[in-house]
Amino acid sequence: MDGRDLVRSVMVVGSTGAAQGLRTVRAAWRRRRADAAGLPPRGAERARVPGPVQEVEPGPGGGLLRFSRTVLRITVTVNGAVFWGWDGAEAEPSYALAGRCPEPDPRAVLEPDKDGGWRVVAERVTVVVSRHGAVEVLTPGGVTLRRDLPPRWWEPVEGGRARWMQRSEVAADARFFGLGGRASGPRLRDGTYRLWNTDPGRVFGPDDDPLYITMPVQMVVADAATHLVFHDTSWDGTVTLREGEEGAGSGHDRAGTCEVRMEGGPLRCWVMVGTPARVLLTWASLTGAPALPPAWALGHHHARWGFGGEQEVRRIVSGYLERGLPLDAVHLDIDHYDGHQVFTVDQDHFPKLPQLADELRRDGVRLVSIVDPAVKADPGNAVYDSGSAVDAFVRDASGRLVEGVVWPGAAVFPDFTDARVREWWGGLYEERLAQGFAGFWHDMNEPTSFAAFGESTLPRSARHALEGRGGDHREAHNVYALCMARAGYEGLRELAPQDRPFVFSRSGWAGLQRYGGAWSGDVATGWPGLRASLSLVLGLGLCGVPYSGPDVGGFDGSPSPELYLRWFQLGAYLPLFRTHASLRAGRREPWEFGPEVLEHARVALLERRRLLPYFLTLAHLARRTGAPYVRPLWWGAPEDRALRDCEDAFLLGDCLLVAPVLDPGADRRAVQLPRGRWYDTVTEQVYEGPGQVLVDAPLSRIPVLARAGAVLPVRGAEGEWELEVWAPARGRTGGGLVVPDAGDGWVEPEIERYVARWEGRQVVVEREGDGGVGEPSYPVRVRGLAGA
Ligand code: GLC
Repeated sequence: MDGRDLVRSVMVVGSTGAAQGLRTVRAAWRRRRADAAGLPPRGAERARVPGPVQEVEPGPGGGLLRFSRTVLRITVTVNGAVFWGWDGAEAEPSYALAGRCPEPDPRAVLEPDKDGGWRVVAERVTVVVSRHGAVEVLTPGGVTLRRDLPPRWWEPVEGGRARWMQRSEVAADARFFGLGGRASGPRLRDGTYRLWNTDPGRVFGPDDDPLYITMPVQMVVADAATHLVFHDTSWDGTVTLREGEEGAGSGHDRAGTCEVRMEGGPLRCWVMVGTPARVLLTWASLTGAPALPPAWALGHHHARWGFGGEQEVRRIVSGYLERGLPLDAVHLDIDHYDGHQVFTVDQDHFPKLPQLADELRRDGVRLVSIVDPAVKADPGNAVYDSGSAVDAFVRDASGRLVEGVVWPGAAVFPDFTDARVREWWGGLYEERLAQGFAGFWHDMNEPTSFAAFGESTLPRSARHALEGRGGDHREAHNVYALCMARAGYEGLRELAPQDRPFVFSRSGWAGLQRYGGAWSGDVATGWPGLRASLSLVLGLGLCGVPYSGPDVGGFDGSPSPELYLRWFQLGAYLPLFRTHASLRAGRREPWEFGPEVLEHARVALLERRRLLPYFLTLAHLARRTGAPYVRPLWWGAPEDRALRDCEDAFLLGDCLLVAPVLDPGADRRAVQLPRGRWYDTVTEQVYEGPGQVLVDAPLSRIPVLARAGAVLPVRGAEGEWELEVWAPARGRTGGGLVVPDAGDGWVEPEIERYVARWEGRQVVVEREGDGGVGEPSYPVRVRGLAGA
C-alpha cells in the first residue's frame, strides 16, 4: 500500500481515516479485478510497416497514397496546416478540434517526386512522402524540418487494436517545447515523457513527470523554422526526445530524434510551420480561440484549503483591504462543501454564502468555487440522485457503476464524454451561481481516485460514451477534464448568458483553452518548485493554453519570506496570479511574512493592478491570435540560439521582458536580451541586446524591462487608462496594440493601433486608423527619454 494515499485520506476524514484507508485498498482491488476481466490479454502480436507505395489518388488539398499494407491520407487545409492519417485515420472525430476539420486547400496538389515518392506543395510547407512511407516536412525553401520514418504497428494476431510507433528526426540545432504542462522545461531535454494525465498524489517538483496536463503537442524550434506537430490520439503513450548535436569542425551533425509510442488510437497528425506566432495562430484556428477571462480574473486571487468559515474569509478580505492591498477574488476549496460533496455548502460554517458573496462583490472581490467531478456514491445525495436519474456515471463492462475513493469517500464519476451528461452537469452550476460564485476551479479531474496499487485513476476497462462511439478509459482518460471543462463552460453560458464564464482546470488536453485556463496544481514549496511553476506556464502557453499560473508560495509547508516574495513577484506577471496552499501548510497572506515582505508584495500587487489594461489587451490578443501572454524569449527571434536555451525569463506580450529571481540570496541576475534596446522599468537604465547583461534584482522587485518603442495601456492614479510609451531608439519607431475594456460581457472591442516616433526632440504617439493617424484615445506618458 502506498502510504501517502492513506495519509491523504486520513488528513481529510480524521478519525474515520482507517475506514477510509480500507476503502481505498478495496477500491484499488476492485479496479484491478475490473481490468483483468474487462481487458483480455493481447496475446501474440505481429509487426507491420507500410511497405512500398502502389497507387495514388490525388484529391482536394492532397490525396490518398496506397502502400502495400496501409493507406496514407494527406490534406493541406485552408488554415495552412497539414493533416496526415495512416491506416484510414481521418481528422474527425477529434476532441482537439474546435469544430469541423478545416476545408482542404484546393491549391495544394499531390505530385510525383523523385525516387518514386510523392509530394504536396503548400504555401508554407512542402510534404514529401517516400516510396516506403517516410514523411518529410520542409520549408518552402526546401529545408527539412522533420522527417518521420515509416511508422510501425503491432497488432494482436487475433485481431484488434494496434499499438504504434513513429520515429522522427529533426534538425541538429532544434529544441523541443510543449507536451502540455511539464515541470522540467520549458526546454524539454532528452528523456521519455508520458502522455497520461496524472495526479502525482503529492506535491511535485521539476523531476516529476507526467503531471495533470499532458498533450501530444510538440513545438520544435530550429534555425530554419518553427513547427508544431500534434499527434491527435488521446491514448496512453510516451514521447522520447533526444536533442541533436552539431558536428564541430569536419564532424557530422547528429539529428535530434523524437519517438512517439501509443498504446492505441489512430496514427494521425497535424503539422504547422512558420514563425512561432504564425504557428500558434494556426493552432488556435484548429483547436479554438482561447476563452476570454472576465477582467477581474486578471487581478489577484487568494485561495486556501481550509478557510474554516465565513468569518475567516471576511477577516482575510479585510486584511487585504485595510492594508491597501488589491484583491479581486477569493477561492473556496472543498472544505466549504457539505461532507466534501460538490454542489453543496457546509451550512454550519458558511450559513449565508450568497450574502457574503454580495458583500465581497461590493468591495470588488469575486468568489470562486472549487468543483470536483467525483460524486459521493450515496442514494439520498441530491447530485448522486439526479445523476443516477440520467444514468450519468461511468460503468464497467458488466454494467456496474465504477466506484472510486475521493474526498467525499466512495464516489462515482460522471461520464463527461457523453453530451447528455455534460448537459446535466452544466445545469448543476445553477446552484453555484445562486450561492454567489462568479468563477469555477475544476480539480481532481485527471480523474483522480485515491489508489493503493498502481494508478490513481479509473480502471482502464471502465466504459465511456465517447460521443456515442463507445470505448473505454484508455481512450477517454486524457480528455476527461477537457470534456468536464466543456460541460462547465457550456452550462454557464446557458445559465448566465450575459457573462463570460471563468473556468480553470487542473487537468486538460489539446483544446482546453476554448473553455478556460489551467493552474499548475500542487507544486512543492521550495526554489525548484518556483522554477517548475514557470516551466508549466510557458509550456502550456506554447500548447495553446495561454491563461495559467501556479500556487504562489507553493502548495505545502511554509516558504521562507524570501521564497514567498520571489514567487509572489513572479506570480504578479503571470496570467493567473493566485496564492493558495494546502490544509496543513503555513499561511500565504502577504502580511504573514514580516513588514518588509508586505511592503514589497504591496508593490507587486499595485503594479499588477496598474498593468491590468495591458493584461486585458493580452487576453484579447490571445483570443484573436492564439499568442500566449507569457512567451519564451525566442518568441520573436527563434533563430537566436542563446534565447532558445534561456529558461529563466520570459516576454509578457510584445512590450515587457520579465526576469524573475529563481534562486535564493540573489540581488542581481544575468538576463539574456533579444535584439534591441531595453529599459529597466524602475530605474529607466538602458540595456542593448542581443546579449547577456547583468541587472539589479533587489528584494524589493524583480527586473522587468520594457522594449524601446513599446506602447502599452496602464491604469493611471485614478484608475483611468493611459498609454505608457518607452522612447524608441533615435531614428527608430515603435508601437503597440490596445484593446479597450468593454466589460465582462460579449462585446468585442476594436483593437487600437498606436505608433511612436521621434519628431525633433520629442516622441510623438499617434493612433492609426483607416483614414490615417489621429490623436490617441488616452493621455500619453513617455518614459526612458533620459537614456534615449
Ligand atoms: C488538490 C488540489 C488543491 C486543493 C486540494 C483540496 O490537491 O490540487 O489545489 O486545495 O485538492 O481540494
